[in-house]
Amino acid sequence: MRPVELKKNIYWVGAVDFDIRNFHHYSRAPEGSTYNCYLVRDEKTVLFDTVDAHGYSEMVKHISEITDPESIDYIVCNHLEPDHSGALPRIVRLCKPEKIFCSAMGLKSMTNLYDTTGWPIEVVKDGARLNIGKRNITFLETRMLHWPDSMVSYLEEDRVLISNDAFGQNIASSYRFADECDRSLLLSSMKRYYYNIVLPYSPQVIKTLKRVQDLGIAIDVIAPDHGLIFRTPEDVKFVIDSYAEFAAQKPKLRAVIAYESMWNGTAKMASAVADGLEAEGVPYVLINLQQSHCSDVMAELADSGALILGSATRNNMPMVNMMACIAHVKGLRPQNLVGAAFGTYGWSGEAPKMMAEALAEMKAEVVGEPLKCYFNPKAEDLAKCRELGAQVARALREKCQG
Ligand SMILES: Cc1cc2nc3c(=O)[nH]c(=O)nc-3n(C[C@H](O)[C@H](O)[C@H](O)COP(=O)(O)O)c2cc1C
Ligand SMILES: [Fe+2]
Ligand SMILES: [Fe+2]
Repeated sequence: MRPVELKKNIYWVGAVDFDIRNFHHYSRAPEGSTYNCYLVRDEKTVLFDTVDAHGYSEMVKHISEITDPESIDYIVCNHLEPDHSGALPRIVRLCKPEKIFCSAMGLKSMTNLYDTTGWPIEVVKDGARLNIGKRNITFLETRMLHWPDSMVSYLEEDRVLISNDAFGQNIASSYRFADECDRSLLLSSMKRYYYNIVLPYSPQVIKTLKRVQDLGIAIDVIAPDHGLIFRTPEDVKFVIDSYAEFAAQKPKLRAVIAYESMWNGTAKMASAVADGLEAEGVPYVLINLQQSHCSDVMAELADSGALILGSATRNNMPMVNMMACIAHVKGLRPQNLVGAAFGTYGWSGEAPKMMAEALAEMKAEVVGEPLKCYFNPKAEDLAKCRELGAQVARALREKCQG
């Protein structure tokens, strides 16, 4: 891997992690990930963000191919989550920067995460400008997109937006630019990332996109801190339009059935619910939570308007992967869902009702009664499952048309 010049004297100097599959211990990353950071050479040499602690050597190697790391004058920390700041203490020690810039909330996280004694930290306000020679940089706070400290850096003359976590995707590759990458892989990675990380902050996304539009900021390049960089007018438009679409969370005519089963009874019910959806012409995906991760459910919700949950009752509640799935999904605050719940039981049978309640707490439109089936589903139970699937399909179709 080599450093890559995005525009004259603006370089990608990050680290690519081909091995990682578990991103921040909450989302699967089937394609690995990338920690991007950017070096700008002007009268001042500026490093925008750093990388995960493990990526330190790779980052320093890339910087060294362009300049002596000790020549770095400024470090900008757009966000202090350790995937962007883990390498900060070592790079500060190595290059002894003249200044380290961050937001007011960034100062709090930085001083709490690291021993910053003696660090030349300077807090920048929203909209602050910094001259580094031929270039001016504007800092824009993007609070809660996705941390309180988050901000982005806009290189005015080059029209480059260093967007930190916004517009990221978990893709490890030898490519640095979106136009070099397979399109469907790019879009599915964007969806997985947005739905598992950014989704709860969709109102902030909508506000920020409007603010950028109102400010009339021209953007040639969007350079996120994860994954591929958007450098063509088509790709810049594509990623901004995609974010607007993800944030809107309009209902989509497709259903996710996520289920968990011990002895296969609930699995049979899940198949019958799927048949009911199919009979009404609604596509679906079946996710067995013992084989898949709850972040897969969120990735599929990017293309779906219904979430149907199925679990056997175990010790008076849904099974543990389903409980984890509910916690994960609920925290990400999906909007505009149609929901339903089902499962087998042996004596008390609390799970379907508890799952239906969880869906209602997510403000989903819960269809039908929670469907319970005693031990092994019989023909009449499976007929009820098909009817539940059909009911969800009809409610979803109506929602999509409304
Ligand atoms: C460890 C264990 C705990 C269970 N706890 C409950 C329970 O609290 N309430 C209940 O109604 N059924 C309980 N059951 C019975 C299951 O819900 C029942 O066997 C069900 O049909 C399993 O569905 P499955 O075939 O989808 O795995 C329990 C079963 C096991 C093995
Ligand atoms: Fe982050
Ligand atoms: Fe990140």
